[in-house]
Amino acid sequence: MKYRDTLLSPELSAERSKYVSLVKERISGTGVLAFIQTFGCQQNEADGERVAGMAVEMGYGLTSDPAAASLIVVNTCAVREHAEKKALSSVGQYKHCKKQNPDLIIAVCGCMASQEHRADELKTKYPYVDFTFGTSDLYMLPELLWKRLCGGKRMFLIPQDEPPVAEGIPVVRASTYRAWVSIMYGCNNFCSYCIVPYTRGRERSRCPDEVEKEVRGLIADGYRDITLLGQNVNSYGRDCSFDCNFAQLLARLSSIEGDYKLHFMTSHPKDATRELIDVMASSEHIARQFHLPAQSGSDRILKAMNRHYDLEKYLGIVDYIREKLPDAVLTSDIIVGFPGETEEDFEATLDMLRRVRYDMVYSFIYSPRKGTPAGRMDGQIPEEIKGERLRRLLDVQTEISNEANHRYAGRNIRVLCCGRSTNDPNMLEGRTEGNKIVLFEGPPELEGSFVNVEVTDTRPFALYGKKLK
Ligand code: SAH
Ligand code: SF4
Ligand code: F3S
Repeated sequence: MKYRDTLLSPELSAERSKYVSLVKERISGTGVLAFIQTFGCQQNEADGERVAGMAVEMGYGLTSDPAAASLIVVNTCAVREHAEKKALSSVGQYKHCKKQNPDLIIAVCGCMASQEHRADELKTKYPYVDFTFGTSDLYMLPELLWKRLCGGKRMFLIPQDEPPVAEGIPVVRASTYRAWVSIMYGCNNFCSYCIVPYTRGRERSRCPDEVEKEVRGLIADGYRDITLLGQNVNSYGRDCSFDCNFAQLLARLSSIEGDYKLHFMTSHPKDATRELIDVMASSEHIARQFHLPAQSGSDRILKAMNRHYDLEKYLGIVDYIREKLPDAVLTSDIIVGFPGETEEDFEATLDMLRRVRYDMVYSFIYSPRKGTPAGRMDGQIPEEIKGERLRRLLDVQTEISNEANHRYAGRNIRVLCCGRSTNDPNMLEGRTEGNKIVLFEGPPELEGSFVNVEVTDTRPFALYGKKLK
């Protein structure tokens, strides 16, 4: 497929601009505010920044107080049941805002709203929700909003089969020094437990020129830390006619001059190449960090998860990373309690953690998702066993993380200062190039700049340090 075939057509783009102008004219001078709440992953945060961008483009101010808003957009996640519950309960809380302000418009978007059964539920059980739209229909917000402002019916969009890549949507970024850049949308992998391919549609890559333009602009604006996003960045470019794979894109972007680091996520092990690791090793601009979600250490479970690699292949990549990037921070996602997971399978996962020695692991209790193959599998694991396995995994990994962090004791490292620590407001929080948290004392004006720190103490989940002159 040609890239141009997947781009939002000039006609639709013009229509979008028309609706932006209509809303803008209607609300001009009224001082109305929008409250945008985002749950979920970085991709969703990036989408939320585009929703904010469009709200501002239409003339809304932004607020963090839902009670002050005339427009509330809840950008939801559906990856686990807990995420959906949280999103629904948030939507529920805005009922009273609507009571106080009947003109309030409440919209729900993101992965939860992209599922037909949830859109139906929002329609029938949440009568104060004005409209919903999916992850692929973000660009339609001005149109939906305009129609509703004009007294149109409530709307509950179901995702398009072949959604377009919409370039040129404005962005209001949450940070002035860390930025997300989506390089592709959607997922083709259909891991058997995962809802994302159903909520985000098929893979669509952005053109490398567009990505480069955005990254250049960010670096010129002083952004220090730029994360390239995709559900599987390793398949970048495969859906399109342009001749550029992810390693080549990364090489191209990292040749831009400036004081910045590039990160990326997520890299699916089935497609992680030596070429990619070689590019990483060859550039100072690419962070020495690799998030390589294993999900399980048991070949039997990996097969049932439809992951398309086995432990041997996975460990082969890990060894190559260790060889070429000995300092790299290596992290993973693990699911415990996948249907049919035996004690032996679980032990294989623990063995893998001991063998790989990740810096950090994001571990999740398997949550059945409606419409996924794993949700219908026999052998669902009881909650108590899942909980017990998670605790055992955390025990093993905490010790490994502790040891991994201890290696930093006494070292001088460069960190990006990200402002005051939320846990300890007397301290500043820095991020190493591998995204480890470093707490140190200093003036808050350092936020957004690189700071040299000597590591004085280490914990499993953070480092402590002293700012160097
Ligand atoms: N595309 C990325 C991120 C997917 S969602 C990737 O492939 O890594 C982030 C993580 O959530 C996944 O890596 C997986 O560990 C976890 N996850 C996804 N679906 C889940 C489910 N149904 N139950 C529990 N964890 C899940
Ligand atoms: Fe989900 Fe797998 Fe796609 Fe990641 S690669 S989003 S885990 S289906
Ligand atoms: Fe992200 Fe949640 Fe969707 S993790 S892709 S917002 S289901």
